[in-house]
Amino acid sequence: MTTTLITAVTNQKGGVGKTATTIGLAGALAEAGKNVLIVDLDPQGHLTDGLKVPKAPSGTGAANLYRALVGEFTGSLADLIATHSEPAGRIDVVPNAYEMFMAVRDVDKVKAREQRLAKMLAPARGVYDQVLIDSPPSLDILTDNALTAADGVLIPVQAEDSSLTALQLLLPQIASVDADLRTKPLELHGLVVNLLRRPVNTLAKSVLDELGKLEGLPILATVPLSVVITEAWRYGKTPVDYAPDSEHAGAYRTLAKVLTEAAR
Ligand SMILES: Nc1ncnc2c1ncn2[C@@H]1O[C@H](COP(=O)(O)OP(=O)(O)OP(=O)(O)O)[C@@H](O)[C@H]1O
Ligand SMILES: [Mg+2]
Repeated sequence: MTTTLITAVTNQKGGVGKTATTIGLAGALAEAGKNVLIVDLDPQGHLTDGLKVPKAPSGTGAANLYRALVGEFTGSLADLIATHSEPAGRIDVVPNAYEMFMAVRDVDKVKAREQRLAKMLAPARGVYDQVLIDSPPSLDILTDNALTAADGVLIPVQAEDSSLTALQLLLPQIASVDADLRTKPLELHGLVVNLLRRPVNTLAKSVLDELGKLEGLPILATVPLSVVITEAWRYGKTPVDYAPDSEHAGAYRTLAKVLTEAAR
């Protein structure tokens, strides 16, 4: 049976590259022949847009992530999935629905509220090699669900002071989810430094230095700021497909190897 690794791509700080990392990594994993499922847990729906996957239907009885999280949709996981195809293979996606914006309010009111996503993703175990959860920019019930459903976490950051501050909030939150909601602690895979401007200025260098000193949180890859990411997004492709020889594609392949290793 396939060993499935579920990874939450998380940082409550907005715009650091959670969605870009999820898409890039999914492309690299698919290229390596892995069976990949990605979950667009952010009500903004950027991942769904970035891969040009159709939104799920909304409304009473609709098969969508929101209805599944609040327990109104009890059908199979397969019914929630749309597919994104590219030359390297297929990526399954649990896409956004417009009504996902109600999830933060409504998931808070249901029983076992932090375990909803874990329960929903249970059938993915043994089927997919890798499941990636694109988290919203908040420390709310949706992020708690991501951190409860996952085996490990990948943290995109920028080489800016605000990312150091963000970690001071995120790491204790992960520790509290470990203590209160999990039987086994989340594996901290590490950091992905995204949107790095070249040449690297003195300030960025000093932040990189600080990030590099964080124990148990290695910098796994560095992804430069470049139009490659926004262009791939515009065309609904992953960077590995859009620009296979780019440094970006290389960084995502490195991350894919880390997660493949962690799945063993
Ligand atoms: N390496 C990069 N080079 C250029 N643009 C990038 C890069 N990474 C991400 N972007 C762009 O920067 C913006 C923010 O990235 P992204 O949406 O991945 O961040 P996020 O953390 O998911 O944001 P949010 O917190 O809103 O969910 C997007 O418009 C994305 O296309
Ligand atoms: Mg995002």
